[in-house]
Amino acid sequence: MKVFITGGAGFMGSNFIRFILGKYPGYEVLNFDKLTYAGNLENVRDLEGDARYQFIKGDIADEKAVKDAIETFKPDAVINYAAETHVDRSIHAPRDFIFTDVIGTYTLLEAVREFNVARFIQISTDEVYGSTPQGKFSEESSFNPSSPYSASKAGGDHMVMAYWKTYKAPIIRTHSCNNFGPFQYPEKIISLFITNILEGKKVPLYQGGEKNMREWIYVEDHCRAIDHILHYGESGEVYNIGSGDEIANIDLTKRLLRLLHAGEEVIEYVTDRPGHDFRYALDSNKLRELGWAPKWSFEEALAETVEWYKAHEAWWKKLKNKDFEKYYTQQYEERK
Ligand code: NAD
Ligand code: TYD
Repeated sequence: MKVFITGGAGFMGSNFIRFILGKYPGYEVLNFDKLTYAGNLENVRDLEGDARYQFIKGDIADEKAVKDAIETFKPDAVINYAAETHVDRSIHAPRDFIFTDVIGTYTLLEAVREFNVARFIQISTDEVYGSTPQGKFSEESSFNPSSPYSASKAGGDHMVMAYWKTYKAPIIRTHSCNNFGPFQYPEKIISLFITNILEGKKVPLYQGGEKNMREWIYVEDHCRAIDHILHYGESGEVYNIGSGDEIANIDLTKRLLRLLHAGEEVIEYVTDRPGHDFRYALDSNKLRELGWAPKWSFEEALAETVEWYKAHEAWWKKLKNKDFEKYYTQQYEERK
Protein backbone atom coordinates (compact mmCIF):
# COMPACT_ATOMS: atom_id res chain seq x y z
CA MET A 1 0.00 0.00 0.00
CA LYS A 2 1.14 3.54 -0.78
CA VAL A 3 0.26 6.02 1.96
CA PHE A 4 0.45 9.81 1.59
CA ILE A 5 0.86 11.29 5.05
CA THR A 6 0.61 15.00 5.72
CA GLY A 7 2.23 16.48 8.82
CA GLY A 8 4.58 13.51 9.12
CA ALA A 9 7.36 15.67 10.55
CA GLY A 10 5.19 16.52 13.57
CA PHE A 11 4.58 14.56 16.75
CA MET A 12 1.79 12.10 15.85
CA GLY A 13 2.54 11.85 12.12
CA SER A 14 6.20 10.92 12.67
CA ASN A 15 5.22 8.25 15.20
CA PHE A 16 2.70 6.86 12.72
CA ILE A 17 5.15 6.70 9.79
CA ARG A 18 7.65 4.81 11.94
CA PHE A 19 4.85 2.52 13.10
CA ILE A 20 3.49 1.49 9.69
CA LEU A 21 6.85 1.16 7.97
CA GLY A 22 7.92 -1.04 10.90
CA LYS A 23 4.79 -3.18 10.70
CA TYR A 24 4.39 -3.55 6.93
CA PRO A 25 7.63 -4.19 5.00
CA GLY A 26 5.86 -3.74 1.64
CA TYR A 27 4.33 -0.29 2.35
CA GLU A 28 5.55 3.00 0.93
CA VAL A 29 5.11 6.42 2.56
CA LEU A 30 5.28 9.95 1.19
CA ASN A 31 5.59 12.47 4.01
CA PHE A 32 4.25 15.89 2.89
CA ASP A 33 4.96 18.58 5.50
CA LYS A 34 5.39 22.35 5.54
CA LEU A 35 7.96 22.21 8.34
CA THR A 36 6.39 24.89 10.51
CA TYR A 37 7.86 25.52 13.99
CA ALA A 38 6.25 22.18 14.99
CA GLY A 39 7.61 20.20 12.03
CA ASN A 40 11.06 18.80 12.56
CA LEU A 41 13.04 16.51 10.28
CA GLU A 42 14.88 15.23 13.36
CA ASN A 43 11.61 13.39 14.15
CA VAL A 44 12.04 11.22 11.04
CA ARG A 45 15.84 11.23 10.72
CA ASP A 46 16.05 7.45 11.25
CA LEU A 47 13.81 6.85 8.21
CA GLU A 48 16.01 8.74 5.76
CA GLY A 49 17.71 6.27 3.42
CA ASP A 50 14.81 3.80 3.65
CA ALA A 51 13.82 3.24 0.00
CA ARG A 52 10.15 3.01 1.04
CA TYR A 53 10.15 6.52 2.48
CA GLN A 54 10.25 9.93 0.82
CA PHE A 55 9.74 13.50 2.02
CA ILE A 56 8.36 16.57 0.26
CA LYS A 57 8.34 20.01 1.87
CA GLY A 58 4.96 21.49 1.01
CA ASP A 59 1.87 23.27 2.27
CA ILE A 60 -1.45 21.38 2.27
CA ALA A 61 -3.18 24.64 1.35
CA ASP A 62 -1.05 24.94 -1.83
CA GLU A 63 -3.27 23.42 -4.51
CA LYS A 64 -0.54 22.89 -7.09
CA ALA A 65 1.97 21.34 -4.69
CA VAL A 66 -0.68 18.97 -3.29
CA LYS A 67 -2.01 17.92 -6.68
CA ASP A 68 1.46 17.41 -8.18
CA ALA A 69 2.53 15.25 -5.24
CA ILE A 70 -0.63 13.12 -5.28
CA GLU A 71 -0.65 12.75 -9.06
CA THR A 72 2.98 11.57 -9.06
CA PHE A 73 2.92 9.34 -5.95
CA LYS A 74 -0.50 7.75 -6.73
CA PRO A 75 -1.36 6.88 -3.12
CA ASP A 76 -3.91 4.28 -2.06
CA ALA A 77 -4.63 6.39 1.03
CA VAL A 78 -4.17 9.96 2.25
CA ILE A 79 -3.96 10.49 6.01
CA ASN A 80 -4.20 14.12 7.10
CA TYR A 81 -2.17 14.73 10.25
CA ALA A 82 -1.08 18.23 9.18
CA ALA A 83 -2.56 21.02 11.26
CA GLU A 84 -1.84 23.99 13.43
CA THR A 85 -2.47 22.24 16.75
CA HIS A 86 -1.83 24.34 19.82
CA VAL A 87 -4.83 26.00 21.51
CA ASP A 88 -2.78 28.79 23.15
CA ARG A 89 -1.16 29.72 19.83
CA SER A 90 -4.62 29.82 18.21
CA ILE A 91 -5.75 32.34 20.83
CA HIS A 92 -2.64 34.42 20.19
CA ALA A 93 -2.78 34.23 16.34
CA PRO A 94 -5.71 32.36 14.72
CA ARG A 95 -4.92 33.07 11.05
CA ASP A 96 -2.64 30.12 10.26
CA PHE A 97 -5.17 27.77 11.86
CA ILE A 98 -7.84 28.79 9.37
CA PHE A 99 -5.51 28.43 6.37
CA THR A 100 -4.12 25.05 7.33
CA ASP A 101 -6.95 23.35 9.21
CA VAL A 102 -9.81 24.52 6.97
CA ILE A 103 -8.41 25.46 3.55
CA GLY A 104 -5.64 22.82 3.76
CA THR A 105 -8.19 20.09 4.45
CA TYR A 106 -10.39 21.30 1.58
CA THR A 107 -7.37 21.33 -0.77
CA LEU A 108 -6.52 17.71 0.10
CA LEU A 109 -10.15 16.64 -0.37
CA GLU A 110 -10.21 18.18 -3.85
CA ALA A 111 -7.04 16.29 -4.83
CA VAL A 112 -8.41 13.04 -3.39
CA ARG A 113 -11.52 13.50 -5.53
CA GLU A 114 -9.65 14.46 -8.69
CA PHE A 115 -7.17 11.57 -8.52
CA ASN A 116 -9.64 8.96 -7.16
CA VAL A 117 -7.67 8.14 -4.02
CA ALA A 118 -9.42 5.15 -2.39
CA ARG A 119 -9.20 6.32 1.21
CA PHE A 120 -8.91 9.65 3.08
CA ILE A 121 -8.51 9.71 6.85
CA GLN A 122 -8.94 12.96 8.73
CA ILE A 123 -7.06 13.05 12.04
CA SER A 124 -9.11 15.22 14.34
CA THR A 125 -9.72 15.96 17.95
CA ASP A 126 -12.30 15.56 20.73
CA GLU A 127 -12.09 19.36 21.15
CA VAL A 128 -14.55 19.91 18.27
CA TYR A 129 -17.35 18.48 20.46
CA GLY A 130 -16.66 21.16 23.07
CA SER A 131 -16.53 20.88 26.83
CA THR A 132 -18.78 18.74 29.02
CA PRO A 133 -18.87 18.48 32.84
CA GLN A 134 -20.05 14.86 32.65
CA GLY A 135 -20.79 12.02 30.22
CA LYS A 136 -18.95 11.23 27.00
CA PHE A 137 -19.21 12.36 23.42
CA SER A 138 -20.26 9.79 20.82
CA GLU A 139 -19.68 9.96 17.07
CA GLU A 140 -23.21 11.42 16.77
CA SER A 141 -22.57 14.33 19.17
CA SER A 142 -22.76 17.71 17.51
CA PHE A 143 -19.83 20.11 17.32
CA ASN A 144 -19.53 22.98 19.80
CA PRO A 145 -15.93 24.25 19.56
CA SER A 146 -14.55 26.92 21.91
CA SER A 147 -11.09 27.97 20.66
CA PRO A 148 -9.92 29.17 17.26
CA TYR A 149 -8.02 25.83 17.08
CA SER A 150 -11.08 23.63 17.65
CA ALA A 151 -13.28 25.88 15.49
CA SER A 152 -10.79 25.53 12.61
CA LYS A 153 -10.58 21.75 13.06
CA ALA A 154 -14.40 21.62 13.13
CA GLY A 155 -14.52 23.60 9.86
CA GLY A 156 -12.16 21.11 8.18
CA ASP A 157 -14.05 18.16 9.67
CA HIS A 158 -17.42 19.44 8.41
CA MET A 159 -15.88 19.80 4.96
CA VAL A 160 -14.67 16.17 5.16
CA MET A 161 -18.22 14.96 5.84
CA ALA A 162 -19.61 17.26 3.13
CA TYR A 163 -17.32 15.53 0.60
CA TRP A 164 -18.81 12.17 1.60
CA LYS A 165 -22.41 13.37 1.49
CA THR A 166 -22.01 15.39 -1.69
CA TYR A 167 -19.42 13.52 -3.78
CA LYS A 168 -19.14 10.12 -2.06
CA ALA A 169 -15.42 10.85 -1.57
CA PRO A 170 -14.15 7.84 0.47
CA ILE A 171 -13.48 9.69 3.70
CA ILE A 172 -13.22 8.60 7.32
CA ARG A 173 -13.15 11.05 10.24
CA THR A 174 -11.39 10.29 13.52
CA HIS A 175 -11.55 12.20 16.79
CA SER A 176 -8.95 11.47 19.43
CA CYS A 177 -8.43 12.52 23.00
CA ASN A 178 -5.11 14.15 24.04
CA ASN A 179 -1.99 12.29 22.88
CA PHE A 180 1.39 12.17 24.62
CA GLY A 181 4.69 10.39 24.05
CA PRO A 182 8.00 10.73 22.18
CA PHE A 183 8.63 13.65 19.81
CA GLN A 184 5.83 15.89 21.16
CA TYR A 185 6.86 19.51 20.70
CA PRO A 186 7.50 20.94 24.19
CA GLU A 187 4.47 23.26 24.25
CA LYS A 188 1.67 20.85 25.28
CA ILE A 189 1.22 20.29 29.01
CA ILE A 190 3.05 16.94 29.36
CA SER A 191 6.03 17.69 27.11
CA LEU A 192 6.35 21.29 28.41
CA PHE A 193 6.17 20.31 32.06
CA ILE A 194 8.60 17.36 31.78
CA THR A 195 11.19 19.48 29.96
CA ASN A 196 10.72 22.47 32.29
CA ILE A 197 11.29 20.25 35.34
CA LEU A 198 14.37 18.71 33.71
CA GLU A 199 15.70 22.24 33.08
CA GLY A 200 15.06 23.20 36.71
CA LYS A 201 12.32 25.69 35.70
CA LYS A 202 8.82 26.18 37.09
CA VAL A 203 5.75 24.63 35.45
CA PRO A 204 3.03 27.16 34.43
CA LEU A 205 -0.27 25.65 35.61
CA TYR A 206 -3.34 27.65 34.55
CA GLN A 207 -4.95 29.01 37.69
CA GLY A 208 -8.66 28.33 37.86
CA GLY A 209 -8.15 25.57 35.30
CA GLU A 210 -6.07 23.29 37.50
CA LYS A 211 -9.05 20.98 38.12
CA ASN A 212 -9.88 20.82 34.40
CA MET A 213 -9.81 17.28 33.05
CA ARG A 214 -8.32 15.72 29.95
CA GLU A 215 -8.43 12.15 28.64
CA TRP A 216 -4.95 10.94 27.68
CA ILE A 217 -3.79 8.32 25.16
CA TYR A 218 -0.24 7.15 24.48
CA VAL A 219 0.68 8.01 20.89
CA GLU A 220 1.53 4.38 20.04
CA ASP A 221 -2.04 3.35 20.89
CA HIS A 222 -3.27 6.12 18.61
CA CYS A 223 -1.00 4.80 15.82
CA ARG A 224 -2.55 1.36 16.24
CA ALA A 225 -6.02 2.90 16.06
CA ILE A 226 -5.26 4.65 12.77
CA ASP A 227 -3.65 1.49 11.38
CA HIS A 228 -6.83 -0.40 12.31
CA ILE A 229 -9.10 2.23 10.75
CA LEU A 230 -6.94 2.36 7.59
CA HIS A 231 -7.51 -1.38 7.07
CA TYR A 232 -10.94 -2.05 8.59
CA GLY A 233 -12.74 1.31 8.76
CA GLU A 234 -15.69 2.08 6.51
CA SER A 235 -15.95 5.11 4.24
CA GLY A 236 -18.33 7.79 5.46
CA GLU A 237 -17.89 6.70 9.08
CA VAL A 238 -16.63 8.58 12.13
CA TYR A 239 -14.55 6.90 14.86
CA ASN A 240 -13.71 8.27 18.30
CA ILE A 241 -10.33 7.22 19.72
CA GLY A 242 -10.36 7.32 23.52
CA SER A 243 -8.44 5.61 26.30
CA GLY A 244 -10.84 6.22 29.20
CA ASP A 245 -7.87 7.57 31.22
CA GLU A 246 -9.06 10.91 32.58
CA ILE A 247 -7.02 13.06 34.94
CA ALA A 248 -7.24 16.62 36.29
CA ASN A 249 -4.35 18.91 35.32
CA ILE A 250 -3.27 19.33 38.95
CA ASP A 251 -3.11 15.56 39.50
CA LEU A 252 -1.23 15.08 36.23
CA THR A 253 1.25 17.77 37.32
CA LYS A 254 1.79 16.09 40.71
CA ARG A 255 2.40 12.75 39.00
CA LEU A 256 5.03 14.31 36.75
CA LEU A 257 6.68 15.95 39.77
CA ARG A 258 6.81 12.58 41.54
CA LEU A 259 8.26 10.80 38.49
CA LEU A 260 10.96 13.48 38.24
CA HIS A 261 11.60 13.73 42.00
CA ALA A 262 10.63 17.40 42.14
CA GLY A 263 8.62 19.19 44.84
CA GLU A 264 5.35 21.10 44.54
CA GLU A 265 7.16 24.45 44.87
CA VAL A 266 7.95 23.97 41.16
CA ILE A 267 4.30 24.73 40.31
CA GLU A 268 3.71 28.33 39.25
CA TYR A 269 0.08 29.38 38.91
CA VAL A 270 -0.33 31.64 35.86
CA THR A 271 -3.28 33.47 34.28
CA ASP A 272 -5.80 31.01 32.90
CA ARG A 273 -6.30 30.38 29.19
CA PRO A 274 -9.34 32.37 27.95
CA GLY A 275 -12.24 30.09 26.97
CA HIS A 276 -10.51 27.22 28.78
CA ASP A 277 -12.57 24.05 28.22
CA PHE A 278 -13.26 22.18 31.46
CA ARG A 279 -13.39 18.60 30.20
CA TYR A 280 -13.35 16.45 27.06
CA ALA A 281 -14.25 12.75 27.16
CA LEU A 282 -14.95 10.23 24.41
CA ASP A 283 -17.10 7.16 24.00
CA SER A 284 -14.90 4.96 21.79
CA ASN A 285 -17.03 1.79 21.79
CA LYS A 286 -17.56 1.91 18.05
CA LEU A 287 -13.83 1.51 17.35
CA ARG A 288 -13.46 -1.09 20.12
CA GLU A 289 -16.25 -3.12 18.49
CA LEU A 290 -14.22 -2.94 15.25
CA GLY A 291 -11.37 -4.68 17.09
CA TRP A 292 -9.10 -1.95 18.55
CA ALA A 293 -8.20 -1.39 22.18
CA PRO A 294 -5.36 0.59 23.79
CA LYS A 295 -2.47 -1.54 25.10
CA TRP A 296 -0.71 0.89 27.41
CA SER A 297 -1.76 1.84 30.93
CA PHE A 298 -1.54 5.58 31.62
CA GLU A 299 0.98 5.10 34.45
CA GLU A 300 3.37 2.99 32.34
CA ALA A 301 3.09 5.24 29.32
CA LEU A 302 3.71 8.39 31.40
CA ALA A 303 6.81 6.83 32.98
CA GLU A 304 8.02 5.73 29.52
CA THR A 305 7.50 9.26 28.20
CA VAL A 306 9.46 10.81 31.08
CA GLU A 307 12.34 8.39 30.33
CA TRP A 308 12.22 9.30 26.63
CA TYR A 309 12.57 13.04 27.37
CA LYS A 310 15.39 12.34 29.81
CA ALA A 311 17.23 10.36 27.11
CA HIS A 312 16.60 12.92 24.33
CA GLU A 313 17.69 16.18 25.90
CA ALA A 314 19.51 17.34 22.77
CA TRP A 315 16.27 16.95 20.75
CA TRP A 316 14.10 19.17 22.95
CA LYS A 317 16.79 21.62 24.12
CA LYS A 318 17.24 22.77 20.51
CA LEU A 319 13.49 23.51 20.30
CA LYS A 320 13.34 25.48 23.54
CA ASN A 321 15.31 28.38 22.13
CA LYS A 322 15.11 32.15 22.62
CA ASP A 323 12.03 32.54 20.37
CA PHE A 324 10.25 29.91 22.41
CA GLU A 325 10.94 31.80 25.64
CA LYS A 326 9.87 35.07 24.02
CA TYR A 327 6.60 33.55 22.83
CA TYR A 328 5.74 32.26 26.31
CA THR A 329 6.56 35.51 28.07
CA GLN A 330 4.52 37.50 25.54
CA GLN A 331 1.57 35.12 25.81
CA TYR A 332 1.39 35.35 29.61
CA GLU A 333 1.86 39.14 29.54
CA GLU A 334 -1.03 39.50 27.07
CA ARG A 335 -3.33 37.54 29.37
CA LYS A 336 -2.66 39.55 32.49
P1 NAD B 1 2.15 18.85 15.63
O1 NAD B 1 1.85 20.28 15.89
O2 NAD B 1 3.17 18.14 16.43
O3 NAD B 1 2.56 18.65 14.09
C1 NAD B 1 1.84 19.23 13.05
C2 NAD B 1 2.62 18.97 11.77
O4 NAD B 1 1.89 19.52 10.67
C3 NAD B 1 4.01 19.63 11.75
O5 NAD B 1 4.96 18.73 11.25
C4 NAD B 1 3.83 20.82 10.82
O6 NAD B 1 5.01 21.18 10.13
C5 NAD B 1 2.77 20.28 9.86
N1 NAD B 1 2.00 21.34 9.21
C6 NAD B 1 1.42 22.43 9.79
N2 NAD B 1 0.83 23.19 8.86
C7 NAD B 1 1.02 22.56 7.66
C8 NAD B 1 0.65 22.86 6.33
N3 NAD B 1 -0.06 23.96 6.03
N4 NAD B 1 1.01 22.00 5.35
C9 NAD B 1 1.74 20.89 5.63
N5 NAD B 1 2.15 20.58 6.87
C10 NAD B 1 1.78 21.41 7.87
O7 NAD B 1 0.73 18.11 15.72
P2 NAD B 1 0.32 16.70 16.35
O8 NAD B 1 0.15 16.87 17.81
O9 NAD B 1 1.19 15.65 15.80
O10 NAD B 1 -1.15 16.56 15.75
C11 NAD B 1 -1.38 15.87 14.52
C12 NAD B 1 -2.85 15.88 14.21
O11 NAD B 1 -3.58 15.24 15.24
C13 NAD B 1 -3.47 17.28 14.08
O12 NAD B 1 -4.39 17.26 13.01
C14 NAD B 1 -4.19 17.50 15.38
O13 NAD B 1 -5.29 18.36 15.23
C15 NAD B 1 -4.63 16.08 15.69
N6 NAD B 1 -4.80 15.78 17.13
C16 NAD B 1 -3.79 16.03 18.01
C17 NAD B 1 -3.94 15.67 19.35
C18 NAD B 1 -2.83 15.90 20.35
O14 NAD B 1 -3.05 15.67 21.54
N7 NAD B 1 -1.63 16.28 19.94
C19 NAD B 1 -5.13 15.06 19.78
C20 NAD B 1 -6.15 14.82 18.84
C21 NAD B 1 -5.96 15.18 17.51
P1 TYD C 1 -2.70 21.25 26.18
O1 TYD C 1 -1.60 20.28 26.39
O2 TYD C 1 -2.41 22.57 25.55
O3 TYD C 1 -3.83 20.47 25.35
P2 TYD C 1 -5.36 20.90 25.01
O4 TYD C 1 -5.61 22.28 25.47
O5 TYD C 1 -5.40 20.80 23.53
O6 TYD C 1 -6.21 19.89 25.71
O7 TYD C 1 -3.42 21.53 27.57
C1 TYD C 1 -3.91 20.47 28.35
C2 TYD C 1 -4.45 21.05 29.65
O8 TYD C 1 -3.35 21.59 30.40
C3 TYD C 1 -5.41 22.19 29.44
O9 TYD C 1 -6.47 22.10 30.40
C4 TYD C 1 -4.60 23.44 29.70
C5 TYD C 1 -3.55 22.98 30.68
N1 TYD C 1 -2.23 23.66 30.56
C6 TYD C 1 -1.65 24.33 31.64
O10 TYD C 1 -2.23 24.38 32.76
N2 TYD C 1 -0.44 24.95 31.47
C7 TYD C 1 0.21 24.93 30.26
O11 TYD C 1 1.30 25.53 30.16
C8 TYD C 1 -0.37 24.22 29.16
C9 TYD C 1 0.33 24.17 27.84
C10 TYD C 1 -1.60 23.59 29.36
